[in-house]
Amino acid sequence: MSILFDKNNKTYTIHTRRTTYQMQIAPTGHLLHLYYGRKAEGTFDYLIQPRDCGFSPNPYELRHQREWSLDTQMQEYSGSMTGDYRLSAILCATAEGLRGADLRYARHEITAGKYALRGLPAAFAGAGEAETLSVTLADEAVGLEVELLYGVYEAQDVITRAVRIQNTGAGVLRLDKVASLCLDIPFGDWDLLHFHGRHCMERQSERVPLMTGIQTVGSKRGMSSHQQNPFVILCEHGASEDAGECYGIMPVYSGSHRTEAERDQMGAVRVVSGIQDEGFSWILAPGETFDAPEVLLSFSHEGLAKLSQTYHRFIRDNLCRSKFSNAPRPVLLNSWEACYFDFDADKLLALAREAKELGVDMLVLDDGWFGERNDDLRGLGDWYVNEKKLPGGLAPLIRQINDMGLKFGIWIEPEMVNEDSELYRAHPDWAMTVPGRGPAMGRDQLVLDMGRKDVVEYLYRVLSALLRENHIEYVKWDFNRGLADVYSRVLPPERQGEAAHRYVLGMYNLLERLTTAFPDVLFEGCAGGGGRFDAGMLAYVPQIWCSDNTDAVERLAIQYGTTFGYPVSAMAAHVSASPNHQTGRSTPLETRAVVAMSGTFGYELNPAQLSAVEKEAIRDQLARVRRYDALIHGGDYYRLTDPRDAKRVAAWQFVAPDKSEALLNVVVTHPEANPRPLHLRLKGLDPDAMYVADGDERTYSGAALMYGGWTLAALFGDYPSAQLHFQKV
Ligand code: DGJ
Repeated sequence: MSILFDKNNKTYTIHTRRTTYQMQIAPTGHLLHLYYGRKAEGTFDYLIQPRDCGFSPNPYELRHQREWSLDTQMQEYSGSMTGDYRLSAILCATAEGLRGADLRYARHEITAGKYALRGLPAAFAGAGEAETLSVTLADEAVGLEVELLYGVYEAQDVITRAVRIQNTGAGVLRLDKVASLCLDIPFGDWDLLHFHGRHCMERQSERVPLMTGIQTVGSKRGMSSHQQNPFVILCEHGASEDAGECYGIMPVYSGSHRTEAERDQMGAVRVVSGIQDEGFSWILAPGETFDAPEVLLSFSHEGLAKLSQTYHRFIRDNLCRSKFSNAPRPVLLNSWEACYFDFDADKLLALAREAKELGVDMLVLDDGWFGERNDDLRGLGDWYVNEKKLPGGLAPLIRQINDMGLKFGIWIEPEMVNEDSELYRAHPDWAMTVPGRGPAMGRDQLVLDMGRKDVVEYLYRVLSALLRENHIEYVKWDFNRGLADVYSRVLPPERQGEAAHRYVLGMYNLLERLTTAFPDVLFEGCAGGGGRFDAGMLAYVPQIWCSDNTDAVERLAIQYGTTFGYPVSAMAAHVSASPNHQTGRSTPLETRAVVAMSGTFGYELNPAQLSAVEKEAIRDQLARVRRYDALIHGGDYYRLTDPRDAKRVAAWQFVAPDKSEALLNVVVTHPEANPRPLHLRLKGLDPDAMYVADGDERTYSGAALMYGGWTLAALFGDYPSAQLHFQKV
């Protein structure tokens, strides 16, 4: 049993392989957080020594004990208007205007297996893999129950958290904020490691010390966003890749989100994470419930690499339901940077022939195959083939491509509509716009109201027909603008605050139905590159287009930041043309391949423009992609350098779970004359085993490679790279 309840001291203790989590019911009924950290026995109630710190109110029944205040106690899920002035986890109001939530223990339950959430993606568990703790807190004055859910994955070192709210009163209850997680950390000096960015430069890691006050990471874009990824880490000031304590907080949510970290007057930290509350409200009729999205929580006392590896494995094994999650992915050639909108059947067939000759597995037809879609001004919503470009439809094209021995994949952007489209002309009310106001446009398109059942039904009907009637083995699901005019024509005025979250639920519903109905289709997420790269999407799709920036040098930083939370098996990465279309930079073909190999591999160029030497090099790349597939996608990932640091060397490494082989990857982003030795220490090897490197007859112990390290031959030229394979002998 990984969840224990001690009746005598009313303490819940959760043990995973390396961590312990503990909470206790206080005499007042409030649920106090005692500990989350390195595995340890004992009851941690001795740590908190209550004292009167002034101007911190006391619960009514303890009004003569001035040292006991919710303002200074560590809490499992803070309420509001209780005299705790730190971050509130919940804000609500009754029809009579009663606000606030004073949450006291009501009941609990410990069950085998993992809880599920209604309409939301969540981690799953095999038999015996997880246990669930449910603790229900209540505020009878308001008529509110808050069920705190903990999914405990002992072997994986992950605790999932979610919250279910129930209106137990006689009238309606309006929720204005519902956090999925509240985590109080009483002691220590912490940094916030977060992943900000912009279009074409997603997930740039930034580490800042927590100031006294509140720091916020969030999105109001209706998507998890290019600008602020929902995944954050709290790590000790001194924590490194290999040592030190760190907490990971990974929301399983793809819409607007907010995570706040508050360092309070006593130096304690509270983290509150969940749906973005700006603009959010949700009405619950008596008896109704609301599920807040899941958060994947993990802790490592062995530094950031271990934390990342925990998430990588968990996402592959316990979050992503696709049968492709742990399977080799086809190498694809995507038509976007090869042709953009300028193609016809002949051009695609020529591309397919070239792709086949190189040894690629699949041709992906990107944007432009449907409606009047000859540019990005029109056509979105019209998911029927443009016969001027593809006479006879998709079927003859796919047949000819399949006959070459290639698979066929296609691009869609289901959640969008152009004003210039048949769909918009027929259903202008399906777009999210505010009546009486010109909507904010993005890439000349509007967002469909995915909160509407009729919209989701329509999309399911046309897209399932597309997949049923054509031999399509891969779908790239794009999303190229954020939500702005968040207004739903099917919701009454008092429910407009639900529109953004209902949108996400509708999008998940469509994804759920399509991925369930077509389990053999490989789905790839995309949002103008990596604008919706999050654990919510990864529950449905095993891979996401990492960025519209395909420049290998820029990708180093993007992929580096992404690996803190997400596995390389989720990061779609392609070799594109040189000079690069986004930056104009020229890089060697080998460097482009080394970088793209740390992802789900493909090409995004016109092979007809390659020389015979380059084509030969690609055949060699494909041989390595296939040879190292299991090592790269199933191995442990180590960041050896930050590609942005002063040495301008990007290095990273994969190690097989049984430590039988490793792959070292290096790119020099600024070669120097007369350079200092390029020396790296490998990680994660078996110290007692002997390894041999490619093209070398000498053997080296794992200990030598890890503690003595490895010196690479000097690399010369623009952005040179090296890839070195070590095999246990
Ligand atoms: C944005 C994507 O990220 C690109 O790869 C491409 O699919 C375009 N959209 C097509 O419009």
